[in-house]
Amino acid sequence: MTLHNDLLIRAAKGEKIERVPVWLMRQAGRILPEYRKVRNSVSGFIELAKTPELAAEVTIQPVDLLGVDAAIIFSDILVIPEAMGLPYQMIEKQGPWFENTIQSAKDLSKVRIASPEEDLSYVLDAIKIAKKELNGRVPLIGFAGAPWTIFSYMVEGAGSKTFSKAKKMLYAEPELSHQLLDMITNSTILYLKAQIKAGADLIQIFDSWAGILSPDQYDTFGLKYISKICDAIDEVPITVFAKGAFFARKRMNELKCETIGLDWNMSISASRRLIGDNKTLQGNLDPCVLYSSDQEIEKHTIQMLEDFGGHRHIANLGHGVYPDISPEKVKVFIETVKNWRAS
Ligand code: CP3
Repeated sequence: MTLHNDLLIRAAKGEKIERVPVWLMRQAGRILPEYRKVRNSVSGFIELAKTPELAAEVTIQPVDLLGVDAAIIFSDILVIPEAMGLPYQMIEKQGPWFENTIQSAKDLSKVRIASPEEDLSYVLDAIKIAKKELNGRVPLIGFAGAPWTIFSYMVEGAGSKTFSKAKKMLYAEPELSHQLLDMITNSTILYLKAQIKAGADLIQIFDSWAGILSPDQYDTFGLKYISKICDAIDEVPITVFAKGAFFARKRMNELKCETIGLDWNMSISASRRLIGDNKTLQGNLDPCVLYSSDQEIEKHTIQMLEDFGGHRHIANLGHGVYPDISPEKVKVFIETVKNWRAS
C-alpha cells in the first residue's frame, strides 16, 4: 500500500523532505482521555494490548486527535519476556511485575526463544488491523526493547532506580548474561521480522536503561546485541534510541541503522559531530517543556528545530511523553514543528 504521508520514512533515509516529521514516544495511551475510555472498558493494560481491535484503535487515536506523522503500535516491550516464558503483570500506579525472574542457569533453562507467530500473534493481528484502518495515511512504527533493557526486567523482576541486580549479573556471571542476552536477541529478531511482515513500516529499538551501564559494559552487553539486530534486519529503516547513552554516540555511528534517537541531555551539535552526517537524528525536546506556556513551548521547539537544521531530523521528545501532560500542549508542540520551515 502506498503511504500518502511518508515524511518519516524519507527523513529516516536522508531523502529530501518538505518539512520535518513529528511524532511522540509513548503517544499511544497515557495522555488521551479517549485512550482512558477504551482502557476502562477492559480489565487493564494487558487485556487491552491483547485485544487486537482495541489495540489498533488506540494506536490510531493520536493520528486522528493530535495530527502526528506516524502511528506506533500499542503494545509493550515486555511482551518478549512473556513470550520467552516469564509472564508479567502491570500493577496500577507501580508498573510491571514478574513473578519469576532469571537468577541462575536453572532459571535460564526454563525460558525459550520466542515464537512470534504463536506467542505474539495478538501484536501481529493488531498491526494488520491498524495498517488497514490507517489506509496509508501515515507510517506505522513497530518496536521492541533492546536486549539489555529486556534483560534488566527479566533479572530484576520489576522497575528499579539502579537495576543493581541486573548489573550484578553482568559482573558476577558474564557467561550466563551473554546466554540470556543471546536468547533475547534471537527472540527480538524473529519478533521484529514478524512485525515487518504484518505491516510495520519502520522499527524502533528502545534501550531505556542504556545510561546506567559504564561505556565498556555498554559495548559488551548493550551495543553488541543491538548491532546483531540491526545487521539482521534490512527490510525497513531502524531507529535506535538508547536513553542516557551519551558516551556511546560515536560508536553508534557504526550501527547499521538509519536513525539515532537523542534524549534532552545530549547537545544537538555535539551529537551531530559525534554521530556524523550519515544518520538521521530523532528527538529531543525535554518532555517537561510541555508543562510550560504555549509561548515557551513554541520558543523551545523552534530552537530545537533550528539546532537540528531541518535536514535528517525527526522531531520528537527526548523520552516518552509524561502521563499528566495536557493534549493541548502536545498539540502546540506538533503544530510548531509542522509550521516551521528551515530557512
Ligand atoms: O509509544 C507508544 O505510544 C506505544 C506503546 C508503548 C507502551 N510502552 C505502552 C504502555 C511503548 C513503546 C512502550 C515502551 C516501554 N515500556 C518502554 C520503553 C520506553 C521508555 O519509556 O523508556 C519501557 C521501559 C516499558 C516498560 C513499562 N511499561 C513500564 C515501566 C510501564 C509502567 C509505567 C508507564 O510507563 O506507564 C509500562 C506500562 C505501559 N506501557 C503503559 C502503556 C500505555 C501504561 C499502562 C496503563 O495503561 O496503565
